[in-house]
Amino acid sequence: MAELLDGARVAARMKMELADRVARLRAQGRYVGLGTILVGDDGPSATYVALKHSDCHEMGIESIGVHLPADASQDEIIAAVEEMNDNPLVHAFLVQLPLPDGVDTEQVLQRIRPDKDVDGLHPVNLGKLVLGAPGPLPCTPAGIVELLAAHRVEVEGQHVVIIGRGITVGRPLALLLASKRPGCNAAVTVVHSGVESFAEIVRSADVIISAAGVPGLVTADIVKPGAAVVGAGTSWSGKKLLSDIDLEVENVASWVTPRIGGVGPMTRAMLIANVVRAAEKIN
Ligand code: GUN
Repeated sequence: MAELLDGARVAARMKMELADRVARLRAQGRYVGLGTILVGDDGPSATYVALKHSDCHEMGIESIGVHLPADASQDEIIAAVEEMNDNPLVHAFLVQLPLPDGVDTEQVLQRIRPDKDVDGLHPVNLGKLVLGAPGPLPCTPAGIVELLAAHRVEVEGQHVVIIGRGITVGRPLALLLASKRPGCNAAVTVVHSGVESFAEIVRSADVIISAAGVPGLVTADIVKPGAAVVGAGTSWSGKKLLSDIDLEVENVASWVTPRIGGVGPMTRAMLIANVVRAAEKIN
């Protein structure tokens, strides 16, 4: 029976340390401010954004949320980005993804001031990740690396298979895990649904990270006994969050994320870490 990769516990520990740093800033008359931009009425996105604001509230971080209608134009979204760029109360902010169909996401992300990019998704910050230069790391990839390290799962020198190549998880995670940093330094393979020998490649992994958003995609028969398995895909059945990892995997793997309380809390803790770091630098 696999042990749980307990993101809720690790994130709570991180948030305690971050709360100390926020308190130190406040004691100096400084503050920390996060901004969010949500476009449209996608239920899960609204929930994620609400959780980010409640994390801030809990930790003494100011937060400002802008909610635009689903039919907001590209120009209106960019105007909201520019307002956040110029707002001195906002140290860092994010545009919640996915944006509604028809919006050019890359163009929106490019307008975020790189030093205020809490998600690390601006091309300048993704470029720093490619170069191995310091910069804000995308929250979910950074959270997964921290989650594995906190449980002492061996990653360095191991074969990690990432399922999915999206901009928020799969692509930056592959760069991060292949980079020369503690807890990374891995041999990384990225696969997706169009890969012919999908099962064979996944079965060769020491660590499997699925960010496909396909419920139950990773079944026990494609997991090497003793592997660590991380579910980072999000899909919903009504209000129930579903995992990419089939329940039977816990009988084969040595580590597995729970359906709730795995990667999600780590993403949120990393977001807080990025905004605190931005505030420490700026004011
Ligand atoms: N949607 C799903 N994950 C993320 C994330 O990490 N950042 C943003 N901005 N949107 C997301």
